Amino acid sequence: MIRKPIGVFDSGYGGLTVLKELVKKLPQYDYLYLGDNARAPYGTRSFDAVYQYTLQCVKWFFAQGCPLVILACNTASAKALRTIQQKDLPAIDPDKRVLGVIRPTAEIVGNFTKTNTIGILGTNGTVQSDSYPIEIKKFFPDVKVFQQACPLWAPLVESNEYDTEGADYFIKKDIDNLMNQSGEIDTILLACTHYPLLLEKIRRFAPGGMNIISQGEIIAESLKDYLGRHPEIEEKCAKNGQVDLYTTDSEEDFDRHSAGFFGQTLKARHINIE
Ligand code: DGL
Repeated sequence: MIRKPIGVFDSGYGGLTVLKELVKKLPQYDYLYLGDNARAPYGTRSFDAVYQYTLQCVKWFFAQGCPLVILACNTASAKALRTIQQKDLPAIDPDKRVLGVIRPTAEIVGNFTKTNTIGILGTNGTVQSDSYPIEIKKFFPDVKVFQQACPLWAPLVESNEYDTEGADYFIKKDIDNLMNQSGEIDTILLACTHYPLLLEKIRRFAPGGMNIISQGEIIAESLKDYLGRHPEIEEKCAKNGQVDLYTTDSEEDFDRHSAGFFGQTLKARHINIE
């Protein structure tokens, strides 16, 4: 059997925050990362656009032989995952798997709050889908969930404008809008893979003592658990510890963003998806 890499997908650079934790926790596997930077941000796009773009990228991963693809992007997980799993996968290849990030996060995030009150920061698409309140309720029925969309945060990261006073204004404004919804919030979930890159600023503008949860480690733990429970998928995954990065936009811009994420400098390769 030819073993192939695990696919990791994001609209852009954000999924690198997840890939980094996957490589840390499960370094033995090969990973193939694709950032659809040319069409990012996904967060303000329609349901159908996010679904079509994500499906095209999933098909690309399958064409590279990936037995398993993780939609590290919350927006894609919220808008495209279910249709891909239920409608497309059975027709394309029922032996392949596509997993998202919302359910594994919802399964655990309720454990972090002492006041039973969580604030979610995400893209417009993720917040409007109501996926987090719906999923969290299944696992933690007593936890109250408040949400705030942060439409400019991912674009600020994608355009490398996040270390500016202009960015500070929007980060503070959205955190204030979340906190104004309930004084009980003691845990904020960063429900977008781009937001851990803003962590320092988020900490600065959030009330002191707030639990601020990034998803990377949660997703890595959940993948470990999944592969343990699914040996038929695990045995198809290549184990040479190799990481390959692809982008639908500029290789140079991608390399600038990805520098510092991994011990070694990895050079991204450009591909066209359509
Ligand atoms: N990083 C993606 C997410 O986790 C979306 C960012 C965007 O493209 O708007 O939701």
